[in-house]
Amino acid sequence: MEQFKSCGLAVPAGIGTPEQALSEYEFRLLRDHIHEYCGIFFDDGKLTSLASKLSFRMRLLDIRSYGEYYAHLKYTPRYKEEMEDLIPHLTNNETYFFREMNQLGFFVGELAGRIKAEKAARGDRRLRILSCGCSSGEEAFTLAILLEEAGHYLRDWEVEITGIDIDRKVLERAAAGSYNSYSLRATDRSMIDRYFDKDGERYVLKPRIRERVAFRRGNLLEPASLSGLKGVDAIFCRNVFIYFSDDAIRRIAENFHGALSDDGYLMLGHSESLTRVTDIFYPRRFPGVIVYAKKES
Ligand SMILES: C[S@@+](CC[C@H](N)C(=O)[O-])C[C@H]1O[C@@H](n2cnc3c(N)ncnc32)[C@H](O)[C@@H]1O
Repeated sequence: MEQFKSCGLAVPAGIGTPEQALSEYEFRLLRDHIHEYCGIFFDDGKLTSLASKLSFRMRLLDIRSYGEYYAHLKYTPRYKEEMEDLIPHLTNNETYFFREMNQLGFFVGELAGRIKAEKAARGDRRLRILSCGCSSGEEAFTLAILLEEAGHYLRDWEVEITGIDIDRKVLERAAAGSYNSYSLRATDRSMIDRYFDKDGERYVLKPRIRERVAFRRGNLLEPASLSGLKGVDAIFCRNVFIYFSDDAIRRIAENFHGALSDDGYLMLGHSESLTRVTDIFYPRRFPGVIVYAKKES
């Protein structure tokens, strides 16, 4: 409450009573602030869910009302750090190796070869791939494994895979490359034996696969998160947009459009779509798989 007063905000009636429930008014303030920051949108039915997610940080900070926490998020000198500390409580980091294998298999078995043939004809032997919303790295490392299996690293090809996520905690896990069996629930035993070393109950990726992926922190809503990443051949952004508003998806699609080469492809999760959100990408349908291209075919 003190922070509310000290930042000069008029305190609306009913806000700030210690230990009160999240009111509709506070819910809208907080969810709009979160949405503006990272694109994640809590719709009107998610008041209880947001209240519980915020309460973890509030307890740690000994903040008793949601109004006070809103002021803390917005106006204290460490508001940026607070948002970063809050993010892990808001995001869903669910992921596993070899997830949605249809699309990964199609990319590695078909698209990557086509892209490489076109690039090789121009004397360019570099393949650049992004895993956006990479969580703890399983998608990016699956790509590195599949590309190795298919021989895409051979014959002087430079393959760059970059994983980007807004959540520092998951990126620390990605950098460690150490997983439990749940992350490997869709992985064949033979692949586990070839690409992981057992360390007690954990499975640690072989160093050569770890070295093939770079991770960086970035907020996909900010164009700067993709800075230095021009001419990308493929962007995987799967199971990220399901939590976002259409407006945020549109803005992120524009950022991807700028980072992708003219012949590049965008891959979304099976329940996600850009149709009805933006027409800067065109869906291209292959058996069992949809990918998005910058140009109409
Ligand atoms: C459900 S996971 C998807 C992981 C992986 N792509 C997959 O399909 O298995 C969603 C990830 O998106 C990240 N995320 C959410 N909002 C983001 C944003 N604005 N910028 C970057 N990453 C974001 C979350 O931190 C989370 O790790």
